[in-house]
Amino acid sequence: MEIIYRQAQPSDAAQLLSYMKAIGGESDNLTFGADGIPFSVEQEAQFLEKLCNSSHSTILLALDGETIVGNGCIDGNGNPRFRHRRSLAISVRKAYWGNGIGSGLMERLIAFARGTGAEVISLEVRSDNDHAKALYRKFGFTSFGVFRKFFKLGEAYFDADYMNLYL
Ligand SMILES: CC(C)(COP(=O)(O)OP(=O)(O)OC[C@H]1O[C@@H](n2cnc3c(N)ncnc32)[C@H](O)[C@@H]1OP(=O)(O)O)[C@@H](O)C(=O)NCCC(=O)NCCS
Repeated sequence: MEIIYRQAQPSDAAQLLSYMKAIGGESDNLTFGADGIPFSVEQEAQFLEKLCNSSHSTILLALDGETIVGNGCIDGNGNPRFRHRRSLAISVRKAYWGNGIGSGLMERLIAFARGTGAEVISLEVRSDNDHAKALYRKFGFTSFGVFRKFFKLGEAYFDADYMNLYL
């Protein structure tokens, strides 16, 4: 399997929205479910256009041929007091888990953050998501706190670990 990694372009908008619905339905680990995110294709394309010109944020795709099988996001903002910080989010289609794609994305996301002057990368991960936590630890993230009742799914609550990587 040859996976290509590249930055998401406005022309990826429709496929990326379908991808978000698919991964949202494959685990309860994300901030959204099978409905995906509430963006139209036009809104998503505009968002991706903006990111292509951003000096601190990016969305990376992992592609098997033309098909998106993973994505990752580094997000920052221009506030002078926060410009040393980024947040990170990542996902891979379930059928592709365990093939190193998450690691391939992490490597590139961290390199992007470093190259744009980041000093700290932060994320939140469900405390029982051992697979994701193993991935983050592999790249040097450490937990520094637990947000009790971070997620509410139906009537069930789930905690989340706060993790940081200091570059
Ligand atoms: C978390 C996720 C991105 C990992 O992607 P992946 O492509 O499977 O990751 P990799 O194959 O690079 O594996 C990364 C590490 O996870 C660990 N790992 C792999 N398979 C695992 C499994 N089945 N269970 C627990 N840990 C596992 C290993 O330590 C591995 O590193 P190594 O192979 O070098 O030892 C993917 O499972 C996913 O998208 N999950 C659903 C969405 C999600 O949870 N996103 C994170 C939200 S915070």
